Amino acid sequence: MVEKKKILRALAGEVLDTPPIWMMRQAGRYLPEYRATRAQAGDFLSLCYNSELAAEVTLQPIRRYGFDAAILFADILLLPQALGADLWFVTGEGPRLSTITKYTDFAKLGCTEDIHKTLSPVYETVRILSKELPKETTLIGFAGGPWTVATYMIAGQGTPDQGPAHKLKDENRTLFRKLINTLTLSTIEYLSHQVEAGAEVIKIFDSWAGSLKGQDFIDFALEPAKCITQEMKARYPHLPVIAFPREAGDKYIGFGKATGVDCVAVDNSVSPEWVAEHVQPYGCVQGNLKSSHMVTGGQDLIDETKRVVQVLRKGPHIFNLGHGITPDANPDNVQLMIDTVRNS
Ligand code: CP3
Repeated sequence: MVEKKKILRALAGEVLDTPPIWMMRQAGRYLPEYRATRAQAGDFLSLCYNSELAAEVTLQPIRRYGFDAAILFADILLLPQALGADLWFVTGEGPRLSTITKYTDFAKLGCTEDIHKTLSPVYETVRILSKELPKETTLIGFAGGPWTVATYMIAGQGTPDQGPAHKLKDENRTLFRKLINTLTLSTIEYLSHQVEAGAEVIKIFDSWAGSLKGQDFIDFALEPAKCITQEMKARYPHLPVIAFPREAGDKYIGFGKATGVDCVAVDNSVSPEWVAEHVQPYGCVQGNLKSSHMVTGGQDLIDETKRVVQVLRKGPHIFNLGHGITPDANPDNVQLMIDTVRNS
């Protein structure tokens, strides 16, 4: 009998001797082999849409470190592009999109059924990966949370406080809701195609969830995550779902139960002790070593890695960083973290 993969066991609620490990942005600029393949592709978006090369960069950190999971190489902003928004990346600055602030902008977007033409290379990347990954490695597919994706679509770029999205939400609720609904429905179709192509787990990245307060958090972070999760599980009953409502703070409590996700990923605004007490009793948690340790390394990295492992050892846990690894990280520190987790 084939042994069940470690990540799937943790997601099913099993408490393992050592937690499985992967890292957000594990295929990224801190790796020389990533930079070489990205140069070969030309630019970031060309890399995302080149199935062979996107599969290659997904596999690089698996070959180098033997992580327990591979995450599909793509971006949360490919979905708005597939819906008809213009998208480009400015080197050193980040994404730029055509903006949505009025009905006529919204009307220019296509329908959910139209997204697959643009996104088919992403599904092909998943198909290649499901053939090429080692048998013990889990393949994670993903999409952005509708609110986070909407913040980029409304502002046309990243913003420190998501101001333009809050403004549209408060001033033109009907249009804002239409956008969130369109994103929710198209995310379900996008993720379903990833699963059909071979993704074994899906993750919803809602990086700006923490800027939603009170009822807005429920309406625009929790409800869309619940809707996506319920529909995905109706279509694929055994599919595990991870949600990352980043910087949710107190609102991490009960998020798993309210949405039906199998695992709540936590960032560094909460301590592992707090997570063990308030979130882990209700299901698997993922996180939450500070990404900066991958830059600074040394004894602090060892001590903090051990702390995360020890504190979250009594319940189901997937070891990860609190946010993505940064381009200035030292690849040797990643190995030191992995060795520390596996020997803790
Ligand atoms: O985790 C992974 O490695 C999987 C692939 C992945 C990427 N982006 C690749 C990427 C995933 C899951 C994402 C998610 C994503 N993209 C989020 C949510 C998670 C988070 O980090 O908060 C957001 C907000 C985006 C949008 C985005 N993409 C921004 C703001 C940027 C620019 C900032 C940056 O780091 O350069 C990107 C670019 C991007 N997405 C890179 C990678 C590897 C860097 C591109 C490069 O090679 O220059």
